[in-house]
Amino acid sequence: MNSRIRKAVFPVAGLGTRFLPATKAMPKEMLTVVDRPLIQYVIDEARAAGIEHFVLITGRGKGVIADHFDFQIELEATLRERGKTEAVEQLAAFMPTPGQMSFTRQQSPLGLGHAVWCAHDLIGDEPFAVLLPDMIMQADPGCMAEMVAVYNETGGNVIAVEECDPALTNQYGIVGVGKKAGTGGAFEITGMVEKPAPDKAPSNLYINGRYILQPQIFAHLAKQQRGAGGEIQLTDAMIALSKEQPFYGCRFNGRTYDCGSKIGFLTANIAFGLDRPELSSELKQELRELLAKHGG
Ligand code: G1P
Repeated sequence: MNSRIRKAVFPVAGLGTRFLPATKAMPKEMLTVVDRPLIQYVIDEARAAGIEHFVLITGRGKGVIADHFDFQIELEATLRERGKTEAVEQLAAFMPTPGQMSFTRQQSPLGLGHAVWCAHDLIGDEPFAVLLPDMIMQADPGCMAEMVAVYNETGGNVIAVEECDPALTNQYGIVGVGKKAGTGGAFEITGMVEKPAPDKAPSNLYINGRYILQPQIFAHLAKQQRGAGGEIQLTDAMIALSKEQPFYGCRFNGRTYDCGSKIGFLTANIAFGLDRPELSSELKQELRELLAKHGG
């Protein structure tokens, strides 16, 4: 029986330079898609997968993320006074229970691998999930829930992957595809490369920012070796761990929006807006008019 995935790590210390000036004083994880900040999408996805403890790796200027997951007593009192009980209930619905969320600090931006390593004490000796808040998905119950189902069959380490434009392999971690694993669409990963040029990529299946990892990853991250871009890369530690333990790819069938890029973020707003019954028909009309005006 594989141990249950109870804890998840959310690296939220990144600077968000691609979204300046919006992210000068506001964390990029608080950018909104429709009416929810990015961080809320990933916390909800983790919760839908049965995660019980959320570990956020924060940095300077990120305090508002912790505030987002706390009561806002004055606001709630005002809403109640105005009879807006539905809004109060909606706010209460995504609140973690006391003790369910922990924060630790990555003092220097040394890379994703270093951010995950910062969680080693809070995670301890059990397998755990990692969710990158830049990447949000449209799927019910969600990508992490699909991965937990795969993990329950395969054990080991499970990485979600999705097809990308073969010209864009240099923006992501790319995996090599081996034998089928389990009863669904999962497969054995034969290799991983961080941001390879298209002619060096083993496939066009990219790592979409969702991981289930065994705690032995921390021993490799502890070596703090610098990789691509001079940063401590999670992918490099996974490559080292894959020599000791199996890694499986979970082909995600939904669509991931890379909200670390402007085009992904804008598209996510439209896609999630079109999914909302109260917005959909008006938004479609607006889009038709805009496309006609722009010759689309
Ligand atoms: C990180 C990972 C990469 C993954 C990507 C998904 O890269 O290193 O393997 O494909 O996230 O967003 P970053 O976006 O931090 O450059």
